[in-house]
Amino acid sequence: MALRPSAVTAAAACVATVVLMALLPLPASGSDEGAAVGVNWGTMMSHPINPSAVVRMLLLNGVNRVKMFDADPWTASAFANTGIQLMLAVPNDQLASLAGDPRYARLWVNQNVTGYLQAGIDVRYVAVGNEPFLKSYNGSLINVTFPALKSMQRALDEAGLGEKIKAVLPLNADVYNSPENKPVPSAGHFRKDINALMVDIVNFLHKHDAPFVVNIYPFLSLYQNPNFPLNFSFFDGGSKLVYDEGMVYTNVFDANFDTLVWSLRKSGVPDLKIIVGEVGWPTDGDKNANVRYAQKFYDGFLKKMGRNVGTPLRPGSMEVYLFALIDENQKSVLPGRFERHWGLVAYDGKPKFSMDLSGHGQDNLVGVEEVPYLPAQWCVFNKDEKDKYKDLPASVDYACSNADCTPLGYGSSCNGLSHDGNISYAFNIYFQTMDQDVRACSFGGLAKITMINASQGGCLFPVQILSASEKVVPLRFVHVSLLVLLVFVSILP
Ligand SMILES: *[C@@H]1O[C@H](CO)[C@@H](O)[C@H](O)[C@H]1NC(C)=O
Ligand SMILES: *[C@@H]1O[C@H](CO)[C@@H](O)[C@H](O)[C@H]1NC(C)=O
Ligand SMILES: *[C@@H]1O[C@H](CO)[C@@H](O)[C@H](O)[C@H]1NC(C)=O
Ligand SMILES: *[C@@H]1O[C@H](CO)[C@@H](O)[C@H](O)[C@H]1NC(C)=O
Ligand SMILES: *[C@@H]1O[C@H](CO)[C@@H](O)[C@H](O)[C@H]1NC(C)=O
Ligand SMILES: *[C@@H]1O[C@H](CO)[C@@H](O)[C@H](O)[C@H]1NC(C)=O
Repeated sequence: MALRPSAVTAAAACVATVVLMALLPLPASGSDEGAAVGVNWGTMMSHPINPSAVVRMLLLNGVNRVKMFDADPWTASAFANTGIQLMLAVPNDQLASLAGDPRYARLWVNQNVTGYLQAGIDVRYVAVGNEPFLKSYNGSLINVTFPALKSMQRALDEAGLGEKIKAVLPLNADVYNSPENKPVPSAGHFRKDINALMVDIVNFLHKHDAPFVVNIYPFLSLYQNPNFPLNFSFFDGGSKLVYDEGMVYTNVFDANFDTLVWSLRKSGVPDLKIIVGEVGWPTDGDKNANVRYAQKFYDGFLKKMGRNVGTPLRPGSMEVYLFALIDENQKSVLPGRFERHWGLVAYDGKPKFSMDLSGHGQDNLVGVEEVPYLPAQWCVFNKDEKDKYKDLPASVDYACSNADCTPLGYGSSCNGLSHDGNISYAFNIYFQTMDQDVRACSFGGLAKITMINASQGGCLFPVQILSASEKVVPLRFVHVSLLVLLVFVSILP
């Protein structure tokens, strides 16, 4: 699920309503072609890791495809002469400009595609927007998206790049579904409110030999429907099988993917290539978002990719992009607190669990190397200041509205903390986010700096990394009343 900055609101999108069950693994197809497992690299974090170090990590792990959410030169230039194939993107807030003026697309291609190619960056796709038809956008991008797609493809063609580089449209799986009374792939079709538009779009993609890019989230099936069978989210059986038109479904990923295949058949393009633009499982922020389930999901998914079995209707190798590479602590939490915890690696580039991207069971995920940390110090609740306790709720609120407290929530990794532990967590995460500025560990005397690791049990109190970005996190977040308080405290004798 990837709500990007231009997202105004964000209800998590429904994954197709194929609510069923499963058991037996399908036989391997025997194809030799390696699975094409790429990653999504979103950059909505306060402390980015040096892009060159991240790219080195991708190379060490054999990742040869990356999908971005913009065309940021700082990130993109790290891919020069690496052989890694890139999907760049035009954010949603630029779709109207793209649709309205062909010069905009030409300029974009010239600056962000031709320029990059000359610099040795292997651009393969340009994504036009991100999930623009999410129901939560209330149709606000419906009229501009297709014209923007056409405009981008035309600009690529005019630049002589149209054969090699395709304009694509990453859509959430909520653009198609099966009726509730017949929840099987063969009953699938594009959403009624956008069906005619979708038929035009998929025929356009077909004509230009461009793939359909879809984001599929078994985690969200579970999150949105408390009755969803847990085992159907994974790939190791334990659920009832779904029989549909001679096909057998053992997991929701396959059922969802094939619902798209049926929708394409009914739209006159049965062979349109499909790329899975996002697929993954978060590790915190919800009762089902944890390392155990994420590992179970990836383990099954990557083995499936390694065997090149595809889905019942599309056997063979698939092109997929895992969501996501690194945790992003500044993503909107409107879809859920899990939004900031999709990373294969944590904020500091460390793997959260062992994983084999090749799907062959031999390699472990290698983390980003030589990431510099800030000093090993923490900010915690100073219980001695009893007379100032009345300011506590406002201080905690303040800290948590300017830093990421999602691990404190129900079902999350730090939910078991004591009342005092909660306060310390909030103070520390704020202090770390503010680059350990001493002024960010005051809260009028309620907080103090300690050299003793404040982590408790399974709850990590992070030490932030040294941000590689030239963008400094200023103390601009400091609330006026707090400034007044700080000034007041500092003038006391
Ligand atoms: C190229 O991409 C960057 C980053 O997404 C964007 O800010 C810039 O506007 C793009 N260039 C043009 C000419 O649109
Ligand atoms: C969509 O509508 C809802 C409810 O009317 C509103 O809260 C939300 O801001 C709207 N979103 C957009 C993107 O206009
Ligand atoms: C999209 O176009 C239709 C038909 O011209 C119009 O009725 C609708 O208001 C437009 N929607 C937006 C969000 O501009
Ligand atoms: C899920 O699968 C496991 C085995 O993988 C099994 O032990 C468990 O009973 C299953 N749960 C349900 C609700 O079917
Ligand atoms: C700690 O904070 C979380 C999130 O606000 C809350 O659910 C929990 O009840 C708090 N714990 C205590 C002991 O106050
Ligand atoms: C603090 O302790 C936690 C949990 O034991 C550990 O994972 C973390 O690496 C420690 N942090 C530092 C900076 O030593």
